[in-house]
Amino acid sequence: NYLKIFSPATVANVSCGFDALGLALETVGDTMTFTKTITKGVKITKITGADLPSDPQINAAGVVALAMLEKHPVDFGIDITIHKGYTPGSGLGSSAASAAGAAFGVNQLLGNSFSPLELTQFAMLGEEATCGTPIADNVSAAIYGGFTLVRSYKPLSIVKIPVPADLRVVAIHPQVEVKTKDAREVLPKKVPLKDAVTQWANVGGLISGLYTNDYQLIADSLTDIIVEPARKHLIPHFDEVKQQAIKAGALGAGISGSGPTIFTLCKGDATAENIYKAIQNTYQGKQIDFNMILSKI
Ligand code: HSE
Repeated sequence: NYLKIFSPATVANVSCGFDALGLALETVGDTMTFTKTITKGVKITKITGADLPSDPQINAAGVVALAMLEKHPVDFGIDITIHKGYTPGSGLGSSAASAAGAAFGVNQLLGNSFSPLELTQFAMLGEEATCGTPIADNVSAAIYGGFTLVRSYKPLSIVKIPVPADLRVVAIHPQVEVKTKDAREVLPKKVPLKDAVTQWANVGGLISGLYTNDYQLIADSLTDIIVEPARKHLIPHFDEVKQQAIKAGALGAGISGSGPTIFTLCKGDATAENIYKAIQNTYQGKQIDFNMILSKI
């Protein structure tokens, strides 16, 4: 009758995989509770950690819960509380964490009626309601955990990719505003074929590296020649952070989702600590507030 869950923050795109790849952070995310009530319907009774609407018709979690109860009518209601563990608008899938968390939590109270793929579809409704586009990269990573590939949108097909045990994420979230909608407007409408070839070859290389624990292949493939060049001007000191991260041992660095968070991947805790300090240094004394993240996947 009562359930408390953790719903992870996620890094979408992961450099070469625009709108197709996502990964879930093990230690950053939201805490949500779900309580069965006698009164039918969905109520969001408390939101802490961020200023978000509690009207279930416009809240990412509420939209998802309402859609699920419509599909699977029951004779009880559900109260939801949300504690945001990180800032919305960071590029770490904040609405996705709420949407995916709601899909997972409500499903438990419905006796596990829906499959992970169906939960991803419900969670996409939350993304659509809050960001305008039903993108699946963040929500699929949050639902399935680890690394995911959105192999197809129509029909929706999600592939869970294995994660090498020593892979770590270090990220910096500069507190500047980058709206996903704006960050999508700066993207090229057409891509030259030779750039497309480079990009999809890198996606293949990255996936292969993840399957075979080939950190060098992961490093070689972790580039984005299409989206990152068009967006990086939206993120202060992006090139410097990337350069310092690579110097400190990162396998690669890029924009997390549509930004402004800059993520890096690396092998092992010691290297992660080094990268953490190196990229923290690049922002010190720069008059921009920032948060640091270090997490397993
Ligand atoms: N993949 C999206 C983008 C953001 O880069 O615009 C996250 O869903």
